[in-house]
Amino acid sequence: ETPEFLARFQARIDAEEKIEPNDAMPEGYRRTLVRQIGQHAHSEIVGMLPEGNWITRAPSLKRKAALLAKVQDEGGHGLYLYAAAETLGVSREQMTEELLSGKAKYSSIFNYPTLSWADIGVIGWLVDGAAIMNQIPLCRCSYGPYARAMIRICKEESFHQRQGYEIVMTLARGTPAQKEMAQDALNRWWWPSLMMFGPSDADSQHSDQSMRWKIKRFTNDELRQKFIDATVPQAEFLGLSVPDPELRWNEAKGGYDHGPIDWDEFWRVVKGGGQMNVDRIRDRKKAWDEGAWVREAALAHAEKRAARKAA
Ligand code: ACO
Repeated sequence: ETPEFLARFQARIDAEEKIEPNDAMPEGYRRTLVRQIGQHAHSEIVGMLPEGNWITRAPSLKRKAALLAKVQDEGGHGLYLYAAAETLGVSREQMTEELLSGKAKYSSIFNYPTLSWADIGVIGWLVDGAAIMNQIPLCRCSYGPYARAMIRICKEESFHQRQGYEIVMTLARGTPAQKEMAQDALNRWWWPSLMMFGPSDADSQHSDQSMRWKIKRFTNDELRQKFIDATVPQAEFLGLSVPDPELRWNEAKGGYDHGPIDWDEFWRVVKGGGQMNVDRIRDRKKAWDEGAWVREAALAHAEKRAARKAA
């Protein structure tokens, strides 16, 4: 990759041109996208597990139908994202093998257990809320297929966030025991949700280059701050308290100051030591193994059809 090639590529990025699959691109750009889109796809697929855990126990038919639809949407998001990554020359089988072998990461948030129905509400409110904050800017990502996939994903995520907030609102306005359940779920999910945005900017390995390539449009800390500023008033409206004694409105910066994030916990979870990491990968491996016959049958069918056409 000559300096001229890299400069020409950067000039296209700076002019806000979209990069498409057949365009020449630096190997580092391709690798960064395969890594990020692959991790993102895995997160959607693994993200079906904590909520899937509550489908059979949803408290009403309406709640069950909404949760079922939401979990199916996440499966769909995973598929668009795998398809976007495939345009960069990596296969879905390869990406799945990397997930199952522990080589590819997925979001830390899905390694926490869902202990009560209130967790389903709080996941929609906080986890999908954080996902939207992070993903709206990805609709303007420089890589065309990723940016386009994100547009539909964000629309669906915004429905997920609302259904979650509505569950929490119902609990917060319910009996004292229901309000207590909602508060307990907020206490457990608040800090892990802040960790979803990734390490602080000082420790974020990839941010500088990804910002230059306009894959990322904001840094991890910038998005985390926007999320806190948007979410704290929502908690106040619900009459719930955010579990951070150091949380204060800072008039000068026009945002909240917050207490320290436990980065040791974050890295422990990212490296496989969270409460649910082992279960999540075991469940994905089981689903992949049990689906092998479907993949084989579809392939055999496609081959037969191709042979018939050729004959
Ligand atoms: N969970 C697990 N790993 C993480 C997390 C997290 N919350 N945040 C950062 N990491 C990893 C990075 O993937 C990177 O690891 P790698 O070098 O092995 O790939 C390492 O920590 C250092 O982080 P950064 O240098 O900041 O990485 P990056 O620039 O990729 O930023 C971010 C991380 C913000 C998550 C980015 O990749 C992104 O925006 N991804 C797309 C969105 C996404 O994946 N969302 C998933 C959750 S939302 C959902 O699925 C509903």
